Amino acid sequence: MTQGIDARLEDAQTRIASAASTEDLRAIEREFTGKDGVVASMLAAIPTLPPEERRDAGQSANRLKTAVLEAVATREAELADAALDAEREADGFDSTLPPPRLHRGTLHPVTRVTRELEDLFTSMGYRVLDGPEVELDEYNFEKLNIPADHPARDTQDTFYCDSPGSKATLLLRTHTSPVQVRAMERLEPPFRAIVPGKVFRQETTDASHEHTFHQMEGLVIDKDVSVGHLIGAMKTLLRGIFKKDIEVRLRPGYFPFVEPGFELDARCPFCEDGCSVCKQTTWIELLPCGLVHPNVLEAGGLDPEEWGGFAFGLGLSRLVMLRYGIDDVRHLLGGDMRFLSQF
Ligand code: PHE
Repeated sequence: MTQGIDARLEDAQTRIASAASTEDLRAIEREFTGKDGVVASMLAAIPTLPPEERRDAGQSANRLKTAVLEAVATREAELADAALDAEREADGFDSTLPPPRLHRGTLHPVTRVTRELEDLFTSMGYRVLDGPEVELDEYNFEKLNIPADHPARDTQDTFYCDSPGSKATLLLRTHTSPVQVRAMERLEPPFRAIVPGKVFRQETTDASHEHTFHQMEGLVIDKDVSVGHLIGAMKTLLRGIFKKDIEVRLRPGYFPFVEPGFELDARCPFCEDGCSVCKQTTWIELLPCGLVHPNVLEAGGLDPEEWGGFAFGLGLSRLVMLRYGIDDVRHLLGGDMRFLSQF
């Protein structure tokens, strides 16, 4: 009996190995393992055998079945490979040619500068925070001391997700400043934080205006914070960015959420006596900043008698442009690979 099985198996394997199509394979498979196939009839015959032969007979039938199925699967894979090869050959595919070169991407210049600044600030004890880009009117304006009808809203028109007018109105945030209040609500003072991120404004687009751009907010909350601390931090920031000491000057600047508020100008790092970057003035307007307004501290749940702080709003897109000599802000989000692959 066992010998009979071996001969059968060999026969099946030879036929399977030379089968020319999957249809042929299916037919052989059916012949052996089908409902009325060889294996089934072997199993059906078991009860007619003397008891001591039954076990062997059952095992042989199963061995035959497994071996046939295995051989079919192997041949099927071979046939599929051969079909693929034939198809490729017909296409003129040459498997001996080297593969096309992999194109490795590059980091976006905004990502680069963001990461650099994150390194710089975390080394000074700041934490990096994030906030929603779709923001509530309440956080983007109200809690920053910009009530409805405040004229400062005119300079930050944005994209409203529903009709303006209530604190619950959703809008695309016009600056990273709303995270100031979100941070105060959540963190235990004292703390220092930066918030890099995308902001949006309703703008007439040109080389220096874009509806979407990047800012990096900075916020330090502590006791007895003065303008001196603010200037010190800004100088460290500029040294980190431009790798040299940069002279700064403060001009009064109005932002409802700081008091006093300043425009901090940096001495042009690219020239001595005027160039196109500083528009021949030797100063670059870079950093609006100031001491956090008591109303904002209160909106964030802090007692202005106890806590104070400073905040700054770095124009990240602007800084990236300065850093890499990019003359049109629209390149940054234009998605043109010829531009992006230079970094
Ligand atoms: N959020 C302000 C703007 O976008 C900038 C700013 C931030 C000013 C922090 C002062 C302090 O114009």
